[in-house]
Amino acid sequence: MSGDPATDPPVLQVEGLDAGYGDLQILFAVDIAVAPGEQVLLFGPNGAGKSTLIKALARQIVPSAGRVQLNGRATAGLAPEALAAAGLGYVPQVANVFTTLSVRENLEIGGVRLAGRRRRQRIADMGELFPRLAERLDQRAGTLSGGERQMLALARALMPEPSVILLDEPSAGIAPALVSRIFDMVAGLRATGTSVVMVEQNAKQALAYVDRAVLMEGGRVRLQDSADALLHRADIGALYLGTSSAS
Ligand SMILES: Nc1ncnc2c1ncn2[C@@H]1O[C@H](COP(=O)(O)OP(=O)(O)OP(=O)(O)O)[C@@H](O)[C@H]1O
Ligand SMILES: [Mg+2]
Repeated sequence: MSGDPATDPPVLQVEGLDAGYGDLQILFAVDIAVAPGEQVLLFGPNGAGKSTLIKALARQIVPSAGRVQLNGRATAGLAPEALAAAGLGYVPQVANVFTTLSVRENLEIGGVRLAGRRRRQRIADMGELFPRLAERLDQRAGTLSGGERQMLALARALMPEPSVILLDEPSAGIAPALVSRIFDMVAGLRATGTSVVMVEQNAKQALAYVDRAVLMEGGRVRLQDSADALLHRADIGALYLGTSSAS
């Protein structure tokens, strides 16, 4: 359902974004635009500022300069809750589900702003998207497997039908053999029209699933290109993707 990234107005537009922690500036003049339905990977070395960018976009931290627009509307001044209502979903790396509540209750919280009937419909939709969750609606979230928990975190964020969803390392802590399932799940979001911005350590693997990727280093965007183009650049592979020219 994605349109043409070259002509559609971006769902998310980031211009000249600076952010950090107290006096410590981490992000410098970050520019990124995400088209409707587009899936974008953020990668780069540890400490590059990927999570900081995600947190700044979700307004978990307040940027010190620059402009972020969601569906053409400035997000400056919005609290994280208002931002969610405006169409931004955010799945932090850790503590992304309520472990003492059931799967259903977690989904209900994700859809807290929806009318009761709509909320029930969305829980049914999430069950179709993630059949493993449908089988476990009354199970306590704390007893789910790591992969199921990531599914629930994603489903909870999808409940209000966000226009863009920010994912910080969805494959973290997942057994290597199951990582591709997480990426399949994210790729499956294309059918919903939701855009994705995803941070991943498993960058080489993730590149095969996304449309475009942004390389961050030292708090700056070092380059961005189509996933295809980056997969075929030997220099990027050797430096950032753990591949050598021999492989
Ligand atoms: N709460 C904080 N207070 C102060 N500095 C922080 C805080 N969180 C992160 N930093 C610093 O900001 C820099 C960027 O961190 P960030 O977590 O954004 O990197 P990252 O690209 O997500 O790295 P990783 O791949 O290791 O997750 C690091 O130098 C880190 O030490
Ligand atoms: Mg991080």
